Amino acid sequence: MKTIIIYYSESKKTKIVAETLSHELETDIIRIKDKKKRNRFMDKITSSIDAFRENKTEIFPEKVDLEEYGMVYFGTPTWAGKPAPAIITLIDNCNLQGKDIVLFATMNGSGGRSAIKRMEEKVNVRGARVVESFTVRTKDKTPGQLQEDSENIAKLLDLSLFSN
Ligand SMILES: Cc1cc2nc3c(=O)[nH]c(=O)nc-3n(C[C@H](O)[C@H](O)[C@H](O)COP(=O)(O)O)c2cc1C
Repeated sequence: MKTIIIYYSESKKTKIVAETLSHELETDIIRIKDKKKRNRFMDKITSSIDAFRENKTEIFPEKVDLEEYGMVYFGTPTWAGKPAPAIITLIDNCNLQGKDIVLFATMNGSGGRSAIKRMEEKVNVRGARVVESFTVRTKDKTPGQLQEDSENIAKLLDLSLFSN
């Protein structure tokens, strides 16, 4: 069974992590877009409130057909100690029955673990089980450093054991 990495990224840090892992582990990859505008200065407050309250949002694609995948990664930035609304919305739209899941959250400094815990609760009730999870600190890191950190995580956690 194949592996897919599904991620949301607003300012491209989670994107770098997801793309590096996809390259290292030779997986499929898909980026979920949030149709709500979130990149203006004031949007940080509304986005934090949306994440904290677990408000759903309009996403594209609305769902991903996971029929051919045995292993699914979900990656998200940490927003107010929670997963981004786009990833919560997507998880709730997918059939995860019987899937093995890897979860990751990028963050400035804290809250990544609680974001992962919330995603874990969500995937568990949908019949999937989490086999691995990790956080990545992104604050003040260059794209090159983030890429290196992601490669190291893949090696350290032996993530290649889980794919393909
Ligand atoms: C709305 C919002 C809320 C955030 N809340 C947190 C937080 O609670 N803890 C934290 O460490 N970082 C927080 N951050 C920082 C992001 O989690 C971090 O920069 C992340 O790596 C960004 O990923 P991205 O570039 O893929 O969007 C927040 C950022 C935004 C925009």
